[in-house]
Amino acid sequence: MNQQDVSHTKRKSGAEPKAYVFDAYGTLFDVHSAVRRHAGAMGPDAQAFSDLWRVKQLEYTWVTSLMGQYRDFSDLTENALDFCLQRFPAVERGLKTELMEAYRRLDCFAEVPAVLSALRDEGAKVAILSNGTPRMLEEAVEAAGIGHLLDDIFSVHPLRIYKTAPAAYALVTSTYRIAAPDIAFQSSNRWDIAGAKAFGFVCHWINRSGAPEEYADLPPDEVMSTLNGLLTSD
Ligand code: LAC
Repeated sequence: MNQQDVSHTKRKSGAEPKAYVFDAYGTLFDVHSAVRRHAGAMGPDAQAFSDLWRVKQLEYTWVTSLMGQYRDFSDLTENALDFCLQRFPAVERGLKTELMEAYRRLDCFAEVPAVLSALRDEGAKVAILSNGTPRMLEEAVEAAGIGHLLDDIFSVHPLRIYKTAPAAYALVTSTYRIAAPDIAFQSSNRWDIAGAKAFGFVCHWINRSGAPEEYADLPPDEVMSTLNGLLTSD
């Protein structure tokens, strides 16, 4: 096991989380699987294209929310894709429709079904909290075949503001009537972990890419390399 995998289903207080809430994109679903499916047609820029698509998509969420405006995550994902198609002119523009379609049916990471199933067997609620629109999330969950393993899918869409706004994380506490410290939040996005930590969740950073630590004033409670770390025990 990777050294970063730290045992911890039990919190330091000894209490177990009452709910496990997962970020969707990058945490349950592999955002790079859309480009990977068309990598042959995209040529040598494929990985850089995929990285930039994600970066611009996220940038648009923060910029839009800071302006006090809202455009849904599907639109922002498409805008980011349009930017990348201009940035990498060698990539055939005709791939746009297929790439957007592939983004709606991303692969989930291999360990996801077994981990969600095991956590539910422990009696915890298991849910998604994501910037994705309800429709995007429903399609992704259905394509991955994990709908039966989830109690709820929380989308920020009705709030018209993106993570890391506290209101986004409060969707879970207000719906479940569970206090933030009794909720375990999992994300592969370090910025999302910072937001969730500021809100008061117990935070597990799924550092899939071995990224360096940041947001030092808002550290995760645990770091692990895959969601399997949630199932390890002392
Ligand atoms: C999510 C993206 C931002 O909220 O990872 O699912």
